[in-house]
Amino acid sequence: MSLLIQTIRNTGKSHSFQKLIQAPLSSCTCLLRRKSSDVSKKFLSFDEVVSQRRDEARRSLVVQVNSESSFNELYGYCSNYASINGIHHYKNAGGEHFMLIEFSTEDNLKEILRSCGSHQKDNDIMALQSPFLWFRACSGKKEKIAPTSNTLITKNGNAAIDENLLCEELGSCSTVSDQIQLLYDKTMLNDLGIRLRYMVARQLEIVFESLYANIAVRPFGSSVNGFGKMGCDLDLVLSNNLTDEMSDPTKRLVYQEKKSEGGRGPWQRHMELVGELLELRIVGATRVQRILHARVPIVKYAHEFTNIDCDLCYNNMSGVHMSELLWMYGSLDPRVRPLTFLVRRWAAAVGLTNQHPGRWITNFPLTLMVLFFLQQKTNDGFILPSFKNLVNRAGKEDIRIAEENVNCTFLRDMNKLPLECYSQNQSNLETLLLQFFEYYAQFDFQEKAISIIEGHPVRKPNALPLYIVNPLEPALNVSRNVSFEECERFKLEVRNAAWQLEAGLEGEKSDDWGVLGLIEKRASRNLKKLLRVGNSHRLVSVKDLFNDNEENISEEGLRSKLQRLTQTRHENVEKSVKEMKQMIATQNATEKKDQKIKFKNSQVANEVFRIRRNKMV
Ligand code: CTP
Ligand code: MG
Repeated sequence: MSLLIQTIRNTGKSHSFQKLIQAPLSSCTCLLRRKSSDVSKKFLSFDEVVSQRRDEARRSLVVQVNSESSFNELYGYCSNYASINGIHHYKNAGGEHFMLIEFSTEDNLKEILRSCGSHQKDNDIMALQSPFLWFRACSGKKEKIAPTSNTLITKNGNAAIDENLLCEELGSCSTVSDQIQLLYDKTMLNDLGIRLRYMVARQLEIVFESLYANIAVRPFGSSVNGFGKMGCDLDLVLSNNLTDEMSDPTKRLVYQEKKSEGGRGPWQRHMELVGELLELRIVGATRVQRILHARVPIVKYAHEFTNIDCDLCYNNMSGVHMSELLWMYGSLDPRVRPLTFLVRRWAAAVGLTNQHPGRWITNFPLTLMVLFFLQQKTNDGFILPSFKNLVNRAGKEDIRIAEENVNCTFLRDMNKLPLECYSQNQSNLETLLLQFFEYYAQFDFQEKAISIIEGHPVRKPNALPLYIVNPLEPALNVSRNVSFEECERFKLEVRNAAWQLEAGLEGEKSDDWGVLGLIEKRASRNLKKLLRVGNSHRLVSVKDLFNDNEENISEEGLRSKLQRLTQTRHENVEKSVKEMKQMIATQNATEKKDQKIKFKNSQVANEVFRIRRNKMV
């Protein structure tokens, strides 16, 4: 409860509190699961949250069904075997329906798995150990299933947010701080998104358990560090799960081991094997790509049952500890995550970040920049402690040494951090956002490096344009890829943003009011302006431009339609036509690519899909 009270104190709003208590039970499990003996506990540790999520995944299955209305039959069927905690429904990009069922115990799940069937008739298909199943239509006489008083916990829980609706809601917020909070509430990775990510990890773990002793597959990165948005990629690490108990020297029978010698080579070979397994033994895994010559070899794949793009690497525990650190900073003060979300979203909108790797900044260093800004000791006081402070307070229980002897030791239990070490400033989100832009608009990027270890700027050890110290490996710069041009663009964009935000606060509320002008993509913002019908606020939508049966509209047709609907000046229409054509071309290219990818699967997979579609409940 103290966590809830802290939320209200810091944001000065009852809104968050109401949201929390009205939220579905499942999304509050972290809070509800606290034992009565934990009353003095203000913060949960990352390990506690992760072990609860891993435990949940061990008790859960994802079942493909015919539609949302299969709930009653599925519930009735499964409850014959095991006791159910709850069922969540969602659809993937292909419009296929799935239900994630959480059972009460792991034994319950084993019971249900023992009852599963397989495709006996398809000789070329080998059944897989997997938590991903499908629900076959009843053969013969249908069993009568009594209606259950239970209902789905979530319906369509994976649906992408309607951006137009979001913008409308943001437009009707009364303060910029409310806008920032709303953007966070509406776009953060939800409970089902987190559950599905742990299911994808569990699926791999089940397969790898049969090949390696002590193996664990853990999500890291934005899926677990508290800064992930709906639809974010899933970073996974395959690692050794050696417990103290297993390395107990009194245990006399010890596994014979096969050593990996010779630098990176053996890891690459392990990852080759992982790539093969993903293609052959992991249901739902498609588009497997091996990137084995990188510093950290990875295998990328898309999980089509859950719509999640995954990056799997080997033995990268420092990435997990880094996620833990980010998660802890995010949980220390309720303003950290909403502010970071806004900054990440703004950076994507102005094109500072990009989905593809390159010479630009990425979300991870950008997040470190926000944390660093919140560590600054201004007249109002600071919000976050330096990393050095957390390291100095670490105890024996906090010692963690990752691969290549990277020391990842820092205080884990934030309850041990004295109150005066954080949240010393009561500024609202609007003030913080403006100060963030102003801070970096005047930052001396030429001479100084950003270091969350110190919590203040330090001298740059080399001439790279942007220097952000890796807190776990201080000799490394996490933004070493960023070019001079991109760094200049960053400086320009923070200045623009500060100016735009400040200017927007004066005078009447316009369409670009508050954060709206910062987070909408420039192209779509310009297009929106051009597509206004007369003076009204109604936009001409793409639907207005195309008839249902009109697949390819000519440039001439588009021009005359736009002129008619918007009554805009000639040169504006020309610009608009060009942008529209570009938008349509990109969309077509993406659709074509998706189609190609979809049908890339083997004939067998298509056949299974066909059989299932006909037989699924
Ligand atoms: N990481 C790291 N050092 C780096 C880059 C990444 O330790 N130089 C770790 C961080 O824990 C980071 C994670 O790897 O969170 C995943 O990196 P990435 O996918 O680039 O960032 P995310 O935080 O997951 O953000 P996004 O939503 O853009 O994927
Ligand atoms: Mg990531």
